[in-house]
Amino acid sequence: MSDQIAVTDDGGIRIIRMNRPEKKNALTQPMYAEMTRALQDAERSETIRCIIFAGSPGAFCAGSDISDFQKRAERGLKPVTVDFLHVLARNPKPLVAAVDGLAVGIGTTMLLHCDYVVAAMSAVFSTPFTKLGLIPEAASSLLGPLRMGYARAFALLVMGRALSAEDAKTAGLVNAVVDASAVEHTALQAAREIAALPGGAVTLARRLMRGDLDDIVKRVDTEAMYFKERLQSDEARAAFAAFLTRKK
Ligand code: COA
Repeated sequence: MSDQIAVTDDGGIRIIRMNRPEKKNALTQPMYAEMTRALQDAERSETIRCIIFAGSPGAFCAGSDISDFQKRAERGLKPVTVDFLHVLARNPKPLVAAVDGLAVGIGTTMLLHCDYVVAAMSAVFSTPFTKLGLIPEAASSLLGPLRMGYARAFALLVMGRALSAEDAKTAGLVNAVVDASAVEHTALQAAREIAALPGGAVTLARRLMRGDLDDIVKRVDTEAMYFKERLQSDEARAAFAAFLTRKK
């Protein structure tokens, strides 16, 4: 098991922590595979009642690893990201996110699958897909407009405009904004509150609120088909090369 994804269980709560701080928790294919396993295992568990996604201080997640994008563009590799997104979309356990610092790309779009999001005051949410020559993923083209309305979703997902924590709360992406030092504690409290409720009722209520999961999974696949095409585009290749060779 890679230590870049740390999985710990605290009573009935599973914490899935992205743990690659030197790369701001940019997600590689093995990290996606590890998170998929952690979700599948939680689904099978009778004791786990709620799952928390967490990152590192100052970095929730910088999105997918751009070197991986480049390799996929060159070699046409099949991404395990899509498996992760299927499992995320169909996962039956309540999902809480503890967002401290930056949440880029899938670091933001995965939150559209979460039920309760806690953010640090300093958190910044951004999805620079089109700036990279790409398109929104994780069914965000469907869930973004549903969650925050078309106008806000367009500014975020297409224009690539960042949202502050307060903006994200106003937009309905975030439930609570707290001091960075209190993010994980607040997320744990929310998870414990959910876990203490009658599990059967929570599962059914959540299932009803999420609508047709087949539609969400279908959108993941449609986006993935176009995403794969966009990865090969000159626009995307130039953007990846610019990022990977930039001087700091
Ligand atoms: N893929 C690959 N490497 C990444 C990365 C990503 N998505 N995000 C950050 N990193 C790496 C940086 O290249 C750097 O590596 P290095 O120290 O070996 O040079 C390291 O993580 C630290 O990042 P740095 O850019 O120095 O930190 P920062 O605080 O100045 O900026 C970001 C952080 C996230 C704003 C910036 O790194 C960035 O824009 N990353 C790309 C985000 C992105 O476009 N994700 C894909 C969305 S679809």
